[in-house]
Amino acid sequence: MNVLFVCLGNICRSPTAEGVFLAIAGREAPHLTVQADSAGTASYHIGAPPDRRSQRAARDRGYDLSALRARQVETGDFERFDLLLAMDEANLADLRARAPGIARERVKLFLEYAPETGRREVPDPYHGSARDFDLVVDLAEQGARGLLKALAR
Ligand code: 4NP
Repeated sequence: MNVLFVCLGNICRSPTAEGVFLAIAGREAPHLTVQADSAGTASYHIGAPPDRRSQRAARDRGYDLSALRARQVETGDFERFDLLLAMDEANLADLRARAPGIARERVKLFLEYAPETGRREVPDPYHGSARDFDLVVDLAEQGARGLLKALAR
């Protein structure tokens, strides 16, 4: 199972989701073979490491995002990945518009896997505070655990 996490810039939410998902999968579901990557719908930050505020929020919870580098979603992603998980409705609409018809059902909101959060979107923390970056880690953990449960079924 190959999962692509997608946000706008690929420097805050989707690299957090990728790092948290891979760490939790390795620790809590080592019998599942999962691969993950992340990408942005926009091109502004191509080649950049995760935002230092995201790196700090993740590191405080035991996740190392420092090796990740931003890239933009590309056409081949719709073939390579079994699931493309959008962080918010705007990312979802962008992905759906770009997806070839056959791949459209592989594109979903990440938090569909964490209904207990009562949220559909991981809010964009870019203009926010440390607390907003912590919330991204919380939601990434809940989404990751829900997704792993779904993949195990
Ligand atoms: P992300 O956050 O989509 O979670 O990576 C953002 C990063 C950069 C910008 C917006 C959101 N920006 O406008 O540069």
